[in-house]
Amino acid sequence: MSILLFATHNPHKIQEVQTLLPPSMQLMSLQDVGFTSPIPEPYDTLEENSRIKALTVYEALHRDCFAEDSGLEVEALQGAPGARSARYAGEHVPDAAHIALLLSHMDGMEQRQAQFRTVITLIWKGKLFQVQGICKGHIAISPRGHGGFGYDPIFIPDGSRLTFAEMSLAEKNQFSHRAKAIKAFCDLISRLTAES
Ligand code: IMP
Repeated sequence: MSILLFATHNPHKIQEVQTLLPPSMQLMSLQDVGFTSPIPEPYDTLEENSRIKALTVYEALHRDCFAEDSGLEVEALQGAPGARSARYAGEHVPDAAHIALLLSHMDGMEQRQAQFRTVITLIWKGKLFQVQGICKGHIAISPRGHGGFGYDPIFIPDGSRLTFAEMSLAEKNQFSHRAKAIKAFCDLISRLTAES
């Protein structure tokens, strides 16, 4: 059994990621280890934000841990909103505001290709590793569906006609960037465990 410290303050993420992991991998939260300081995500790339989140916790606790950062990258907008996905239309505004802003920037555009991407940084025995998961698709003309969160109502993954918000979580996980990144993460942990 591996016990992994997840460098996030978001309890929903802990729950979501735990459901994607095999039962032999158990997550420990920052709450479990009494870490309450804020975790910065000041950069413009998912790689840097994911790295600084893991390093912040590692340097404070001297414990191996992992962190993730995700975002929506729209080809015609040169990868925006990207690492700024959560605060595209401003801090603490509803998801509908981010969606409305993105759709307004894409008004009349025929090129609607986009991808969700998750970057996970693992610090293992003091060494840093990164893996990613990508889900390619396109941006719908208008929002559809009521499930999920964030940009789910306007993202249609390749291989489906439904938006993520029109799918169950199990259906979404068959496509999702986060599920793919977690799969790559599990493969990495298996390899590192076998090597040690
Ligand atoms: P986080 O790094 O996982 O917190 O994701 C940052 C932001 O990217 C979220 O606040 C959402 O706006 C967006 N995002 C990431 N993953 C998803 C997803 O699966 N569906 C919809 N939006 C997402």
